[in-house]
Amino acid sequence: MSNSNNSRRRFLLGSAGLAATPLVAGLAGCTSSGQTTSAASASTAAAGGNTTSTAVTLAARRRLGSLEVSSLGLGCQTMAGTLYGPVSSREDMITIIRTAVDQGVTFFDAAEVYGPLEVERILGEALQGVRDQVVIGTKFGFEVNQQTGERGGLNSRPDHIKQAVDGMLQRLRTDHIDLLYQHRVDPAVPIEDVAGAVKELITAGKVRHWGLSEPGVQTIRRAHAVQPLTAIQNEYNLLWRGPEQQVLPLCEELGIGFVCWAPLSYGFTTGAINPYTRFAEGDFRAMVPRHSRENMPANMAVVQLLNDWGVRKGATPAQLSLAWLHAQKPWIVPIPTATRTSHLLENLGAEEVTFEGNELQEFTTALNAIKIRGERLPAAVLAGTGVEAPMP
Ligand SMILES: NC(=O)c1ccc[n+]([C@@H]2O[C@H](COP(=O)([O-])OP(=O)(O)OC[C@H]3O[C@@H](n4cnc5c(N)ncnc54)[C@H](OP(=O)(O)O)[C@@H]3O)[C@@H](O)[C@H]2O)c1
Repeated sequence: MSNSNNSRRRFLLGSAGLAATPLVAGLAGCTSSGQTTSAASASTAAAGGNTTSTAVTLAARRRLGSLEVSSLGLGCQTMAGTLYGPVSSREDMITIIRTAVDQGVTFFDAAEVYGPLEVERILGEALQGVRDQVVIGTKFGFEVNQQTGERGGLNSRPDHIKQAVDGMLQRLRTDHIDLLYQHRVDPAVPIEDVAGAVKELITAGKVRHWGLSEPGVQTIRRAHAVQPLTAIQNEYNLLWRGPEQQVLPLCEELGIGFVCWAPLSYGFTTGAINPYTRFAEGDFRAMVPRHSRENMPANMAVVQLLNDWGVRKGATPAQLSLAWLHAQKPWIVPIPTATRTSHLLENLGAEEVTFEGNELQEFTTALNAIKIRGERLPAAVLAGTGVEAPMP
């Protein structure tokens, strides 16, 4: 297909998706009966029953170890309105999750600390009725008061993990967690003990697969030796490519999948954040050094690159960002957050974007030439990444 045809097709795809959004969302809100409305049928109804060709559906599937998921997941971290500022409403978040299911997304990402607790509750409510059709990933690792949600420090002691999982199952309204991650390495607990606890949870049928988030590389090997890992969930995007050095080669060696958090660099690589952006008080993104007034102008070169290629490929910067991650390895799955349906539908269009011939090399060479300024996380948060667990 020529580039201009590609552009036109994606423009139609995107505009139809946006036009259909409220109705598609409304229809998706009716899927709790246990039937997933197919994307085509939702789109057909939304368009008055006269078209099926404009649906924004995600058909592609990828494997994380032995776990099959949609090629894009939906990150739900900010849906409680506590991290990136308020969201429109709880009901809207439930509708977006159901719309994602309706449009072919089968992979949803939460954590006990998101909210805290509330994101798991939202996800549980939204997915009730379609539970068997989706893969739920969630995470333990911190002290969280199960009544108040008050958050304490790291805690991956085996007894604590088991208690945390019982709370998760209640909030998620399910009898099993498909993918349970440790969400940060606890420097006080050997990873062998953590893996042993997860193994018992798997034997009990409460957990199906497990993973680690931002661990040290030796910790990955040690954990995998006790209970094989399904996925590593680390930050990976056009501004932070650290996993390429050691973690991705290790995942390839061990047959572990890779889930990218912040695949859009918190929204930066969509073009939605620029040096004139002002974050509300308490918005986490304001604390990210890459977003500082000093660093952001230099980093805008990445957005410029995406804009240039967007014109050439007929894609949005967000779609190109996700397509580039997809192009790295077939076992990489990005999980962008969207608390607006329009963002969700736009992101699903990434599946249509492919790099042909030497385009991937050309794009990456241009990306390599951009010097990214500023750390990826505030110092206190960064200190919790890449940590090696103590020996037993
Ligand atoms: N394991 C970990 O340590 C860890 C850490 C952080 C996050 N995570 C997981 O990763 C997920 C994603 O990470 P993230 O939310 O930090 O970063 P992200 O997905 O890179 O960026 C999310 C931001 O981008 C915006 N956005 C999404 N699509 C867009 C589009 N097409 N155009 C314009 N803006 C768009 C979203 O806006 P709207 O919300 O307004 O749609 C939101 O503000 C989280 O939900 C969470 O599940 C895991």
